[in-house]
Amino acid sequence: MKVTAVLLAAGQGVRMKSKVLKVLHPVCGKPMLAYALAVASSASTEKPVVVIGKDGEALRTFLGDAAVCVIQNPPLGTGHAVQQAEATLRGKTDLVLVTYADMPLLRPETVARLVETQKNNPGPITMLTVIAADPRGFGRVMRDQDGHVQAIVEEAAATPEQLSIQELNVGAYCFSAEWLWQALGRIPLSKKGEYYLTDTVELAVQTGLPVQALVSQDLAESIGINTRVHLAEAEAAMRARINRTHMLAGVTIVNPAATYIDPDVTIGMDTVIWPNTYLHGKTVIGAGCTIGPNTIADDTRIGDDCTILAAVMEKAVVEDNVSIGPFARLRKGAHLCKGVHMGNFGEVKDSTLGPGTKMGHFSYLGNASIAADVNIGAGTITCNYDGVHKNPTEIGEGAFIGSDTMLVAPVKIGAHAKTGAGAVVTKDVEADTLVVGVPARPIRKLNEAKK
Ligand code: UD1
Ligand code: CA
Repeated sequence: MKVTAVLLAAGQGVRMKSKVLKVLHPVCGKPMLAYALAVASSASTEKPVVVIGKDGEALRTFLGDAAVCVIQNPPLGTGHAVQQAEATLRGKTDLVLVTYADMPLLRPETVARLVETQKNNPGPITMLTVIAADPRGFGRVMRDQDGHVQAIVEEAAATPEQLSIQELNVGAYCFSAEWLWQALGRIPLSKKGEYYLTDTVELAVQTGLPVQALVSQDLAESIGINTRVHLAEAEAAMRARINRTHMLAGVTIVNPAATYIDPDVTIGMDTVIWPNTYLHGKTVIGAGCTIGPNTIADDTRIGDDCTILAAVMEKAVVEDNVSIGPFARLRKGAHLCKGVHMGNFGEVKDSTLGPGTKMGHFSYLGNASIAADVNIGAGTITCNYDGVHKNPTEIGEGAFIGSDTMLVAPVKIGAHAKTGAGAVVTKDVEADTLVVGVPARPIRKLNEAKK
């Protein structure tokens, strides 16, 4: 059976008071449209159709070829919006799943149940409802004495008695396609000048066809975003859901209310996340790590058994058993190999620190390739930028860079070489050689015993 999702995103989102289209506002780092599309795709056998407005080109760009876009202009209501998909879908699908793109918390499992229920429904509609004390401006679900769904009444049109109904329309429906197309043409114009999709319920009931309602048990799922107050509410609910999933998978989150994890982040077992930690994008964290407090990681890969305290990391790679911080900054292309120690007030960019290398205090390493077991003394700086180019620095295995060394790139330090405190190294240093001074000069070879 063919199932096609139609996602409505043509509303103007005026209540957001924003220059950015409502459905592009992020929830836990991802536009709400991305969540809605993922859920729609999971339940579809065909490519989803997204209804966009005349100013929706940014949505088309965002969606790429993940969906077919159709334009609704002018926006005359949710029923009229679905009608815009008819030309694309007529005769090409058995069921049509309709959801709104401003509901990022809707779960794939729920939408799958909606589709399954409709497959067994002799009538043309299965809809999702929720029982809630706070009506949030949602449409109310009217049932008769026997509990059969009769209609959805929009808040603006409801009587005081109808307003007290606690069963609400979430805004996810599965329709039998052929019935839907003919029903859309029969929706009456509302007092507000819109064609409400919700009126299809009454149209079905009037012709003796049953409407099924699936009652959601998860209140958060029904959060639809109309204002920035709802946006914050959705963000908190999504954060709680993400954190809970990690905790149930064996991650300790000391204070979930102060831990901010994007949906695509992965974390290994027995890792402990301290408060005020932000894990963004496609960050991957291994097992047995201690992360935070006060740490930000963006698209960063961290291995097992690492300790990272008060660090800011972006597009970095950190292998196993590394300790970082407090107050460390890893910029793009930073790669710390196994067992590296990077202490306080350091910055690393586009550089690899080999296994076991130590960089204890106050150093900057940029465009550097550093071998294993090197000691970077306090205050070492790679002077990598000459005003025009970024120049490379290479340091060989086991080298000892004295405190306050300036490495004026391009420059190479040989294996097991040493620089004296305050050296300004402007020329390559051979292996096993001690250099000192400004500019640094070799003063002797180091034999094995002296090393
Ligand atoms: C809608 C439902 C209401 C439900 C609530 C749940 C209708 C008439 N009402 O109300 O019963 O309880 O959602 O959140 O459907 N859109 C278009 N074109 C339009 C109008 C809207 O594409 O002409 C899109 C919007 O971009 C949005 C979605 O449809 O993604 C819902 O529209 P919105 O105006 O937010 O409806 P609600 O007032 O929330
Ligand atoms: Ca809405």
